[in-house]
Amino acid sequence: MELVLATRNPHKLREVARMLAPHGLSVRPLPEGVTLPPEDGESFEANALTKARAAAAALGMPVIADDSGIEAQALGGRPGVRSARYAGEQATDAQNLAKLLAEAPAGSGLLYVCALAYVRPAPEAGGAAEEQLFRGECSGRLAPVPSGLHGFGYDPAFIPDEQPGQLTMAQLSDAQKDAISHRGRALLALARWLRQASDSAS
Ligand code: IMP
Repeated sequence: MELVLATRNPHKLREVARMLAPHGLSVRPLPEGVTLPPEDGESFEANALTKARAAAAALGMPVIADDSGIEAQALGGRPGVRSARYAGEQATDAQNLAKLLAEAPAGSGLLYVCALAYVRPAPEAGGAAEEQLFRGECSGRLAPVPSGLHGFGYDPAFIPDEQPGQLTMAQLSDAQKDAISHRGRALLALARWLRQASDSAS
């Protein structure tokens, strides 16, 4: 089965394609002409669904979209849905990471969250559109200093709870990150749901 991923983030496209391939799902990038709505919702789920609906309506094929971010316990859950623009509208990953390190104490609790929306538009022959939401989470702690070269975004300062030692997400291999990450968990739930749906249709 082919799915379009409604994102302009090449890191996400790579991660998602890598994680869905073993489930027989191939992921296509969003065609250039499709415009995504702004991520101005108050929840990860609302943002993911808005993007998936817009792209599915434009393309007439099944689309997935995610919205993800990081919640810092010491900051009452900020930056949350504003993680990509924490240090300003055009902020780079490095600027966002520096702001988090400046505002939250080392060792304080963090949570990566990923909401994933699947939208299949209504078939032309009639019938209903299909929409489904999945959520994945990964808890961790803030590293005192950034380390590691893998991953992206806040990974160099995120020490996941579910691995022995003090390695950051950016020091783990792709496979190690996929097995415990918020996005990995949401994608696994999607793959299982699609498998169940296709088993019960046949
Ligand atoms: P969005 O989902 O495209 O809105 O991006 C959310 C923000 O959270 C971006 O700034 C990312 O850098 C950050 N983020 C989301 N997932 C991850 C991850 O797996 N590692 C590091 N940062 C992430």
